Amino acid sequence: MTSLLDQTRFSESIYKPTMARIVDINDLTALDRLFTVELPDGVYLDHQPGQFVKVSVLGVGEAPISISSSPSRTRQTFELAIRKVGDLTGVLHDLQAGAMVGIRGPFGQGFPMDRFKGKNLLFIAGGCGIAPLRSLINQVLDDRGSYGHMQILYGSRSAADLMFKDELHEWENREDVELLLSMEKADIDWPACTTGYVTHLFPQIELDPRNTIAVIIGPPVMYKPTIAQVRNKGIIEGNIWLSFERRMKCGVGKCGHCQINHIYVCRQGPAFQYQHVKDLQEAM
Ligand SMILES: Cc1cc2nc3c(=O)[nH]c(=O)nc-3n(C[C@H](O)[C@H](O)[C@H](O)COP(=O)(O)OP(=O)(O)OC[C@H]3O[C@@H](n4cnc5c(N)ncnc54)[C@H](O)[C@@H]3O)c2cc1C
Ligand code: FES
Repeated sequence: MTSLLDQTRFSESIYKPTMARIVDINDLTALDRLFTVELPDGVYLDHQPGQFVKVSVLGVGEAPISISSSPSRTRQTFELAIRKVGDLTGVLHDLQAGAMVGIRGPFGQGFPMDRFKGKNLLFIAGGCGIAPLRSLINQVLDDRGSYGHMQILYGSRSAADLMFKDELHEWENREDVELLLSMEKADIDWPACTTGYVTHLFPQIELDPRNTIAVIIGPPVMYKPTIAQVRNKGIIEGNIWLSFERRMKCGVGKCGHCQINHIYVCRQGPAFQYQHVKDLQEAM
């Protein structure tokens, strides 16, 4: 077996995608679909939670998409949760199982799992932020003994916008996971659901700030108020991690499309330690 990145290194160009087959497509919400993608025989993705791939359709374009499955679950296949927002994602949503797409990657820095081991984990997702966070959550669940207490705060607009509902129920039913939901329109019968934003969940949680890592993924507007809540709980800047979405082209630090000041998000991120990006006005 060869990793996709090694195979790309030996090919003539880092920009040449490997053609991969969509083997399954499932609706997550009215706008989001989960694509299961299979690489050619003998090639596997070899990713870390937090990394992304560039997905392309010939004649349409290419876009960065976070890997939503955990490396602990699948090897030859991987999952992408894709929201229909424009040209490429619109075409992807029209594809059927069996269609071929181009894949490059995995790219960027994911989350440093080794540094998280032995720590309590506070995962905070807003909207589609749950898609990349799911990779991290399932990785931790598959090696549950290596981590401490696990809390998940997930903010969504409404019940119809919740992604991965089956897995949410599984996490909710586990004794070793604390899952709290917030909804702007709390139209769901859920044991722990609060009306409002994800920041409204903070008064309900207790944690040991000396031994807790917080990971935040969501829309840009969520970062400032959420980081303020996390800091308010006593978690130090070095224990806060987040992930940025920027417009990207090459995905490998060559074109500058994703640049914020001196930082290339595609190469140095998308997962960042807060203390390294907190002064980037443009980022948050
Ligand atoms: C690291 C990373 C990970 C991502 N992960 C996912 C994912 O898991 N699932 C997913 O659905 N999307 C994800 N995205 C966003 C996705 O790449 C864009 O939605 C995609 O490029 C849209 O392509 P399109 O051709 O369909 O839309 P276009 O036709 O190019 O644009 C449609 C609309 O979306 C806006 N837009 C395009 N790209 C972005 C962007 N990066 N940020 C904000 N607005 C944008 C455009 O301005 C336009 O209004 C990720 C982006 C990055 C950088
Ligand atoms: S996308 Fe080209 S440098 Fe980051």
